Amino acid sequence: MTVSFETDILPLFTSMDKEHMSHVGVELGDYSYMSQPDNASEVYSQVSSAKMPPSGSGEQPWPEDKVQLFREWMDGGYER
Ligand code: HEM
Repeated sequence: MTVSFETDILPLFTSMDKEHMSHVGVELGDYSYMSQPDNASEVYSQVSSAKMPPSGSGEQPWPEDKVQLFREWMDGGYER
């Protein structure tokens, strides 16, 4: 099954994630931003290392299944 941005990836981000990150130019909710390999890799690196979302934000680090889903989306060629 192909992992798609709109169906599978977008719901992983909370409105807080999208809003706060937009302030620093990281457009988590925007397919054209996220489908650029360098941007996707940076997001992957942040969530897989549990640096984002930050521990002080009230959100939990992503569990392994979410991190894996994001990885599959990248490996599958950034399907919309
Ligand atoms: C390119 C990737 C990312 C970079 C460079 C980045 C960087 C930052 C920076 C500099 C801040 C403000 C300082 C801080 O609170 O630590 C921040 C805040 C935040 N980030 Fe990220 N971030 C990235 C991806 C993400 C992702 C993927 C998520 C969620 C899954 C996320 C969730 C948040 C949240 C919720 C805050 C607000 C924390 C608060 O105000 O309490 N970020 N991020």
